[in-house]
Amino acid sequence: MLIDKIIIEIDKVVKTLSVKAVSIREHPDANINEEEMSESQKKHSISLMRINHCGEICAQALYQGQALTSRNQDTRELFENSAFEEIEHLAWTSSRIHELGGRTSVLNPLFYFASLTMGVTAGVIGDKWNMGFLEETELQVSKHLSENLEEISKHDTKSIAIIKQMKEDEEGHAMLASQSGAVELPDLVKNIMRFGSKIMTKTTYYI
Ligand SMILES: [Fe+2]
Ligand SMILES: [Fe+2]
Repeated sequence: MLIDKIIIEIDKVVKTLSVKAVSIREHPDANINEEEMSESQKKHSISLMRINHCGEICAQALYQGQALTSRNQDTRELFENSAFEEIEHLAWTSSRIHELGGRTSVLNPLFYFASLTMGVTAGVIGDKWNMGFLEETELQVSKHLSENLEEISKHDTKSIAIIKQMKEDEEGHAMLASQSGAVELPDLVKNIMRFGSKIMTKTTYYI
């Protein structure tokens, strides 16, 4: 029943925003030693990881929107693993931010609900559009993570290990969406998505 699904999803919302995320896989930076960094390098890393953490909060919302609206049980099950990997990303970025002495973004709930709205809207339009939306999101995220690798301090080997593993996972998610019948989104939609993520990255860098 729809109401049951909605209750389950609301429960996930509360957990995503309040409960500590867990990772089954070992954190990618678990066996890497902390290197010496200047205060400004550390601050930059915190900001970049804060953006990535908010991105993972948004990923939770997108996959929940997808699960909530997908008409196809097989598709829903197919994406359970991707959704779980996003929870692991949440755990990795969150613990890295705290290790560096930073905090997560106060804007997380706002971007969470914005993403959920977009995910549900894409899902309501149809599965192939939902897949297209997921694929495009994952591609944009992986491009963003590549840029992160360019600009983060080379001494922050722990964050680098996390970002690299996330990038690999996001590329896998994009591939899965593509194989599941994703249609290519119109350029206008892609640009709106880029604009939305620009607002997110510019604000969560600071707060
Ligand atoms: Fe992710
Ligand atoms: Fe992903």
